[in-house]
Amino acid sequence: MEFILASSNPHKAEEFSLLFEGKLKVLPAPSSLEVDETGVTFQENAYLKAQSYFKKFKVPTLADDSGLVLEGLPELLGVQSARFAPELPSYTDKCQKLLDIYQEKGIKERGAYFVCVLCFYLSDEEVYFFEGRMKGDIANEISGAHGFGYDPVFIPEGQTVSVANLPEWKNEFSHRARAVKNALSFFKENVDKPHKKL
Ligand code: IMP
Repeated sequence: MEFILASSNPHKAEEFSLLFEGKLKVLPAPSSLEVDETGVTFQENAYLKAQSYFKKFKVPTLADDSGLVLEGLPELLGVQSARFAPELPSYTDKCQKLLDIYQEKGIKERGAYFVCVLCFYLSDEEVYFFEGRMKGDIANEISGAHGFGYDPVFIPEGQTVSVANLPEWKNEFSHRARAVKNALSFFKENVDKPHKKL
């Protein structure tokens, strides 16, 4: 099965292809589209992206939406994770700002989780969603040189250091890896069965 990826980031298609281990092929879209991510859930935003690319290119499309949900500050990131503190140029600055907010507001609840939702848009009648989560806590300080985004301030459950120190672990257990595993096990069970529409 082959999908185009509804994303303007060419590295993402490569990353997904690796995660799918050749079992599903993910190609960059022929060109990128501006899609307003106006949804209030990860599912809605993934759907909006997948639908826009499907309508334009008329081929099976994969879209993802992801972000970090903070239990002590539920309104702050979530579906807005990519748009937090737009005045700050780097994620190191954004991570520091996040830690400062916890400190200034005296927030003790540091639980958090990353979410990744995948939307496979095969046709207007056939759309599948898969989700993966990675639970943990917001650290007290920035650490680690791997990964991206909020990795340096996120300590996964069962670990003692931030996910930016755990690149191999992350490849296997991240929210994205878990969503991909869920998708793969579904497609493995449902492809090649004559009664299924896939
Ligand atoms: P998008 O799914 O590419 O729109 O990313 C949403 C936001 O969540 C971005 O700000 C990313 O930095 C953040 N994010 C998503 N996944 C991760 C991750 O694995 N590590 C760190 N930040 C992430």
